[in-house]
Amino acid sequence: MAILVTGGAGYIGSHMVKELLDREEDVIVLDNFQQGHEAAVLGGKLFVGDIRDTSILNKIFENHAIEAVIHFAASALVGESMVNPSKYYSNNLYGTLCLLDAMHQYGVKKIVFSSTAATYGEPVKVPIQETDATIPTNAYGETKLAVEKMLRWYDTAHDIKYIALRYFNASGAHESGLIGEDHEPETHLIPIVLQVALGQRSKIDIYGDDYPTKDGTCIRDYLHVSDLVDAHILALEKLRTGGESKIYNLGNGKGYSVKEIIETARIVTGHQIPAEIKERRNGDPAVLIASSDKIKSELNWTPIRTKLEQIIESAWKWHLNHPMGYRKE
Ligand code: UFG
Repeated sequence: MAILVTGGAGYIGSHMVKELLDREEDVIVLDNFQQGHEAAVLGGKLFVGDIRDTSILNKIFENHAIEAVIHFAASALVGESMVNPSKYYSNNLYGTLCLLDAMHQYGVKKIVFSSTAATYGEPVKVPIQETDATIPTNAYGETKLAVEKMLRWYDTAHDIKYIALRYFNASGAHESGLIGEDHEPETHLIPIVLQVALGQRSKIDIYGDDYPTKDGTCIRDYLHVSDLVDAHILALEKLRTGGESKIYNLGNGKGYSVKEIIETARIVTGHQIPAEIKERRNGDPAVLIASSDKIKSELNWTPIRTKLEQIIESAWKWHLNHPMGYRKE
């Protein structure tokens, strides 16, 4: 039977697809290329289309025995979600509704869902635990939280079991250097810093240095994309062996400031990487760090690429090999 990966041409999805292929799983990818890249899909059977298009979902489910779905397809820009919530409700919430209805119709009972730390909003404490309050401060987080709730009711009604993984800051790239992070527009710290190192941007803007942190810049929990993918494999195995529906945080458990990221990138790349202090970015909490104790104890997950140097080195390898991302390939 096959695993359907929605959003499998995107940053995290493409790493998932590669890992599944390496494990000799039968993989089907559905991606509308809104953010994804054809060149990022290193195998499997690719369908170009939208999760909201029931005809393409029917075609996939009718013609393939799908065992489980790993669902990445979504819009994921916090800022954009604040000016265009419709896009987020449509892509993320309505899109997942279409997917779940198709799963129900075709009797597919397992889903691993890509959720986010943005479901928590401003944290009540760090490290953040799954039992902490979820009060999203942006429409993106709100739609992901709404999907988590929808999953719960589809489990109750239709016995569709889910594992929702709340990612903190996914980062780094595959060790092969073949796939990596390429967003248009790019808004994430590490790829932007590396674009400065490559000479594609003149400087990195630091969004605020007056936060209540050790150096005044925001602290985030950066998790290597391959460690993140490993957690999905464990989640899939858990569902395969009759596991119950669960929600887990996924983070490194260590926080790094914006200045620490830039400093480490200077060491890794050997480039100066000029930086300039700017105004705070709207809606950025000062510190976001995950407690991943629950997934560690229940699924035996152990992140192994936890050093910041390692994460940035892997991203740098991708950027050096693919200075234009997937575009010129
Ligand atoms: N930052 C800068 N300059 C930049 C870009 C980012 O200083 O040019 C700072 C941000 O202010 C933030 C940190 O670097 O403090 C990390 O920013 P990212 O945009 O890389 O990541 P976020 O923490 O904002 O967002 C990530 C995911 C979101 C998710 C969120 C959860 O990308 O999808 O974590 O809170 F919603």
